[in-house]
Amino acid sequence: MGWFPFLVLSFLLSHFPSQTSSFMPFCNYDDASVLLSFKSSFTLDSSSLSNPWCESCHPKTESWENGTNCCLWEGVSCDTKSGHVIGIDLSCSCLQGEFHPNTTLFKLIHLQKLNLAFNYFSNSPMPNGFGDHVALTHLNLSASAFSGVIPSKISHLSKLVSLDLSFLGMRIEAATLENVIVNATDIRELTLDGLDMSSIKPSSLSLLVNFSSSLVSLSLQQTGLQGKLANNILCLPNLQKLDLSFNRYLQGELPEFNRSTPLRYLDLCYTGFTLESLNYLDFYSSDFEGTIPLFLYKKYLI
Ligand SMILES: *[C@@H]1O[C@H](CO)[C@@H](O)[C@H](O)[C@H]1NC(C)=O
Ligand SMILES: *[C@@H]1O[C@H](CO)[C@@H](O)[C@H](O)[C@H]1NC(C)=O
Ligand SMILES: *[C@@H]1O[C@H](CO)[C@@H](O)[C@H](O)[C@H]1NC(C)=O
Ligand SMILES: *[C@@H]1O[C@H](CO)[C@@H](O)[C@H](O)[C@H]1NC(C)=O
Ligand SMILES: *[C@@H]1O[C@H](CO)[C@@H](O)[C@H](O)[C@H]1NC(C)=O
Ligand SMILES: *[C@@H]1O[C@H](CO)[C@@H](O)[C@H](O)[C@H]1NC(C)=O
Repeated sequence: MGWFPFLVLSFLLSHFPSQTSSFMPFCNYDDASVLLSFKSSFTLDSSSLSNPWCESCHPKTESWENGTNCCLWEGVSCDTKSGHVIGIDLSCSCLQGEFHPNTTLFKLIHLQKLNLAFNYFSNSPMPNGFGDHVALTHLNLSASAFSGVIPSKISHLSKLVSLDLSFLGMRIEAATLENVIVNATDIRELTLDGLDMSSIKPSSLSLLVNFSSSLVSLSLQQTGLQGKLANNILCLPNLQKLDLSFNRYLQGELPEFNRSTPLRYLDLCYTGFTLESLNYLDFYSSDFEGTIPLFLYKKYLI
């Protein structure tokens, strides 16, 4: 007897999936039209050539249809109370075309998470408008074919928790990065691989010591950074991952690590790092994985 209502309910849910939409807020009307016009500003190219970063891209925006609840569209998430769009994940969605400098996307003022990684925006200049989304906590534009200089306004995103501007072939000015470091005090994850940071002269490398103590992961592969890095950066209290690889002219010394060092991942290959103060290195029974850097071999193991 007690099973009957349950069976009826599961029958209804499985046969009338649209019924489940009543548990979702209905999306804000203006937000839906913003998304539709954003969708229509791109073509979809699902050939694997369009973005070598995706094994196969998946056109999420194909499920975006006028008149349906945008909170149920693929890649879209809404605030459960207001129905405002707060998250967009269109990574690897086969989007191709110019990114309009005044794209309607910038009207979504409640947006907190935006991932447009692995699309092809035809080397459009990166619009300033990204910096107007001050509510953003997550921004990911990795390998999405923007070009030029990272807009300085990006430093207005003071609530950022995660920022990925990797593999864009763009440049960042020293002052912009400095302002990001000063303003984004809650940042946990910063990935700037392949970004041209050569505007940061060896004499101003110390601006990197001011990273927020909340930083957990920092990836600066192949950025053209030069000079001698103070080892404070390796001592950030919560840093678990640090990748400085492929910065040939970046030098530094490893500090003395101890049990309370949170660092779990350190990549210094093809850098000028040395271990001046180290005179004993023992990996016995340590679960050590990965390769031992060449400079260690030369100095200590052979
Ligand atoms: C969506 O449909 C409504 C009503 O049919 C129409 O007024 C509106 O212009 C449509 N929006 C878009 C972006 O096509
Ligand atoms: C973008 O919008 C601003 C103000 O809304 C306007 O001043 C500017 O000319 C627009 N730029 C383009 C390229 O449409
Ligand atoms: C820091 O962020 C606030 C809030 O977005 C902004 O008003 C301010 O201009 C930013 N400061 C810098 C140096 O970018
Ligand atoms: C950015 O998005 C790509 C694709 O989804 C993902 O592989 C990468 O880890 C993301 N970056 C961060 C910092 O989360
Ligand atoms: C680091 O931040 C402090 C306080 O915000 C500031 O006084 C100092 O000049 C900064 N150092 C660098 C190298 O930017
Ligand atoms: C371990 O290293 C950290 C920073 O590198 C230092 O603050 C702490 O005092 C060290 N702890 C011990 C027990 O040596």
